[in-house]
Amino acid sequence: MVTKKKQILLNAFNMNCVGHINHGLWTHPRDQSDRYKTLGYWTSLAATLERGLFDGIFLADILGVYDVYQGSVDLTLRESIQLPVNDPLLLVPAMAAVTQHLGFGVTVNAGADAPYVFARRMSTLDHLTSGRIGWNIVTGYLDSAARGLGLDMQLEHDTRYDRADEYLEVLYKLWEGSWEDGAVLVDRERRIYADPAKVHAIDHEGKFYRARGYHLAEPSIQRTPVLYQAGTSGRGRQFAARHAECIFIAAADKSAARAAVLSLREAVVAAGRRPDDVKIFLGITVITDRSAAAAQEKYAEYLRYSNPEAGLAHFSASTGIDFSRYDLDEPIVYGTSNASQSATQTAQQRGWTRRQLLHELAIGGRYPVIVGDAATVADELAAWVAEGEVDGFNLTRTVAPEGFEDFIDIVVPALQDRGLYKTSYAEGSLRRKIFDENDRLPERHSGASYRYR
Ligand SMILES: Cc1cc2nc3c(=O)[nH]c(=O)nc-3n(C[C@H](O)[C@H](O)[C@H](O)COP(=O)(O)O)c2cc1C
Repeated sequence: MVTKKKQILLNAFNMNCVGHINHGLWTHPRDQSDRYKTLGYWTSLAATLERGLFDGIFLADILGVYDVYQGSVDLTLRESIQLPVNDPLLLVPAMAAVTQHLGFGVTVNAGADAPYVFARRMSTLDHLTSGRIGWNIVTGYLDSAARGLGLDMQLEHDTRYDRADEYLEVLYKLWEGSWEDGAVLVDRERRIYADPAKVHAIDHEGKFYRARGYHLAEPSIQRTPVLYQAGTSGRGRQFAARHAECIFIAAADKSAARAAVLSLREAVVAAGRRPDDVKIFLGITVITDRSAAAAQEKYAEYLRYSNPEAGLAHFSASTGIDFSRYDLDEPIVYGTSNASQSATQTAQQRGWTRRQLLHELAIGGRYPVIVGDAATVADELAAWVAEGEVDGFNLTRTVAPEGFEDFIDIVVPALQDRGLYKTSYAEGSLRRKIFDENDRLPERHSGASYRYR
């Protein structure tokens, strides 16, 4: 019997804005990311990704502005470093209308909206997408976001995760517990849409949240959306172990990826789950063409439009360190960050100076870059899976949509030839497609304990 090779999971990593990760590329003559305000841009991208059998589109988001670098928002505005940025959730119905299988992993800060409100929004999207919605749970890292939301500064790093734990608890009560299976009858003759005996009010009183009432939406296919998480500090890992089904990591090399994956799976097992209950996605940038030389040429061309200083300004916001205060070769004091500790890790370990950061952040952001023809890229992705033990990739946006089209036309067939990538979609919800199991959270997930018994 031939055993099937592990299939690479693939998301297009994007954001509802002009400059995402590869800063400056919006100035490239072929780039279309300034069309982000139009539905046509997103529906066309969704159709393209489904042609390439992508598992999902993963949309980042941020609620604040990047004002740490030079203590100002000026460069952020000039270079459009994730500003302006539109709401990612509102793109989903349009993209769902032109696709049948593409999943949606959408970043929303846990706590920006009351859980009661957010629960309904996600249930609505799960209904409208026929069970294709996922949520990337983030806890934020910007004081500018906290100020916009009415606070003086953000909560302390670990407290943000404590609050998010409770946020999830309220959501599970609403999504999993409020409506029993079989509550919705739609019985015209007896005039019973929903059976009152099977719909229950939740009653939550905690440290951060108070919520009493019924979930407003009837149960959707997945109930709880597929839960993504990104953030691998000690506290972040603990949070992921309890809630996450998909984890998005950054790693500079394969051994760092492997170490992160193993420690995440260990934490997942300690939380009473199976190691394979989480799928781990590595952020990666691919620049490809029909020949190795053409790919290198394209890379050089992209570099001419990239802006490393904009990358550094983004990284300043991620780490909370104003790198403009340092000379090019001066050692940087990284310390313990109250922003994103995951972002700080590699730079801190390698002792990167401002000059090195400018080099590293020119293209690819915090993620590895692969440049080459089909065979080179496919082999390198396969090596990340074999040696780094990741399950798949969040493929960053380069020149848009050219970068995704290149990947689909050039790399996907090479991955398929190697038996590493599907040749058709599986049926069913996003959760069923990813885990080949159920539409709903498995019983061993902490969220399942909130089901009505
Ligand atoms: C790969 C990666 C992607 C992330 N994407 C986002 C994002 O789109 N929006 C956001 O607000 N935070 C994002 N974050 C931040 C984390 O979700 C988390 O809130 C932050 O890193 C602090 O947690 P940590 O110290 O555990 O890393 C991301 C973090 C990582 C590592």
